[in-house]
Order: sequence, then structure tokens, then C-alpha cells
Amino acid sequence: MRTETEQQVRSILEGMPRERASLLPALWTVVDQMGWVDQERMEAVAAVLNLPVADVYGVASFYAMLPSDGRTQVRVCDDVLCHLAGSERLLDAVRAQGLDAVAWPCLGRCDQAPAALVNASPVVRATAEKVQRAAQGGE
Ligand code: FES
Repeated sequence: MRTETEQQVRSILEGMPRERASLLPALWTVVDQMGWVDQERMEAVAAVLNLPVADVYGVASFYAMLPSDGRTQVRVCDDVLCHLAGSERLLDAVRAQGLDAVAWPCLGRCDQAPAALVNASPVVRATAEKVQRAAQGGE
């Protein structure tokens, strides 16, 4: 018997090849559509892709950027170019707004520093206000 979560995940992943290579794209699709991938959603992904739950958990827990709960996660790049563009002040300002923010290595948006990531959404030429808007679902 399928759970409601499994039915939702099955619907979201409809058309995706049922193979091991689909695992990471499937996890990101679940995050994109449902916001995060917790234990129940991992089990649903495993059922849909016909993979052991341990394999899904292993991949999901390896990628620290995959959100595992509904909290807003903010990552502020503190690598060289973003540091030069004021990421330290940005991180302080974001934290002062009450957001749970951490320093993070290069986010691959160096040409638009400083860069941040709000859950899975990039914020470029980031300001505390832009990060706040992204955290509220805008931007
Ligand atoms: S140095 Fe910040 S995104 Fe690359």
C-alpha cells in the first residue's frame, strides 16, 4: 500500500527513468517541488526508483546542500572573490535578520559576487535585503 507521500513523489517523478542514475536528479526534483527531502520522502524515492533506502539515504546525506527539513537554509559564500565583495558583512547582516546562515565555499557565482544560496535558490550580487526576500519566497 502506497503512502500519500509516495503517491506525491511518484507523481513528481513521473517520466523519470527508473534507474540508479536518476537518483540525484530525483532528489533535487523532490526538493524543487516539495521543499526538502526528509526520511519519509527518501523512502518514497527509493520505492519509486526501486532502490534500497540505504542507497538513497547515503546519497542524500552526502550532499549537504540537499535540504532535509523545512527550515530556510542560507549559505553565504566566503571564498576569495565574495570575501573581497563583502561577504563577511553580508553574513553578519543576514544573521542579524534572524536567518540561519552559514559561511560556505565557492558557490560558482564568482562573477556576481557576493553570492548566497537560499535553500536551492541562488542570490547574486547579494544584499541582506535580497537574501531576506528570497527567504520569504521572492527573488
Ligand atoms: S567566490 Fe563566491 S561564488 Fe565563487
